[in-house]
Amino acid sequence: MLRWRLSGINFSRMNEPGVPTPAMLRSRGRDQAKLHERAANAARAKFGDRVFVRAVVEISNFCREDCRYCGMRRSNRALTRLRARAEQLTELLLQHTPASVTDVNLQAGEDPVAAREVALPLIRALRKETDLGISVCLGTLDPALFAALKDAGATVNILKFEMADAENYSQFSAPGTLAERTETIRYLAATGWHVSSGFIEGLPGQTEEDLLANFSLARSLPLRGCSVSPFIPGEETPLADARTGEAEVTLNCMAALRLMRPDWVIPAVSALNLAQPGSGYARGLGTGANLVTINLTPPEVRKDYLLYKRDRFIMTEERILDEIARAGLTPSRQSLAEYYKSNPVNGAKAPHAEQRAEAART
Ligand code: 5AD
Repeated sequence: MLRWRLSGINFSRMNEPGVPTPAMLRSRGRDQAKLHERAANAARAKFGDRVFVRAVVEISNFCREDCRYCGMRRSNRALTRLRARAEQLTELLLQHTPASVTDVNLQAGEDPVAAREVALPLIRALRKETDLGISVCLGTLDPALFAALKDAGATVNILKFEMADAENYSQFSAPGTLAERTETIRYLAATGWHVSSGFIEGLPGQTEEDLLANFSLARSLPLRGCSVSPFIPGEETPLADARTGEAEVTLNCMAALRLMRPDWVIPAVSALNLAQPGSGYARGLGTGANLVTINLTPPEVRKDYLLYKRDRFIMTEERILDEIARAGLTPSRQSLAEYYKSNPVNGAKAPHAEQRAEAART
């Protein structure tokens, strides 16, 4: 009898904290405060009081995708499209990167031209002149371009799966198919990238089941980090009249992610401040988020870099340092890139060693 019972237990999962429960996502009041505190403590146990500070530079708002939730979608004709010049950004980053910044994230709409002509030379210059860690968030590119970015010196790739349901994914016209997206995430990890992903809370029509499915998908992928953004109805998108995501639910999702994966890098996204003006960002740090972003995009590019609304909430170094201090935390001196390199996943010798060996064979 005992043996029969034991054989019904899945031992491989016993040490893994599970996916969150609906109660977690719904929690409010005292239960919610406890949940967030548990998550913040889990982050402290792993990272101490350190928070990574990364600068984001938006290099192009051209986009060949047409996601219904995103203001940069190719169908948005109201947007002036711009590609930054590599020399201008190189100068900006070499001369004006704030002292607290250890990493840079180069971000764009899905624009292979910008990846090749702006990101590549910029990464080469940064690699040569600085010890900044380099992340890219440039969408799905072809393998040769991904490889070139990595050879130039980028080590972190951010590719969001956006939502875990394939049907919804296609309804929202997210890039390619969900299967292709997750395949690309696995491919990036297998070819040596540290991959971070993310999903959106509160997309129109999203059910609690849909939201929970994001956690199962995230934990099945070879990720080093994951973000949750509240849905912000974009002014010039088909979803302009939809409701904003719920900051409280987004925060609960962040706490749940932290408890599910204590060693992941989880950002406090600036959209939290749009969903909950004034306090969203600080509360993100209170759920165990351990990455903040300073926006260094030159103003002339920034005004047309439209994910949501024209009145974006821009995080400057001063604001960021203030929020970090208010949360009782300190900027990390170690870069995100160094952290990933020196902390293999789940105690493995090298991250995703098997997949890497497999990729090398094929
Ligand atoms: N609300 C929230 N997040 C959005 N993104 C794009 N549009 C929105 C929106 N309206 C996020 C997506 C995308 C990233 C660049 O911004 O996750 O991958």
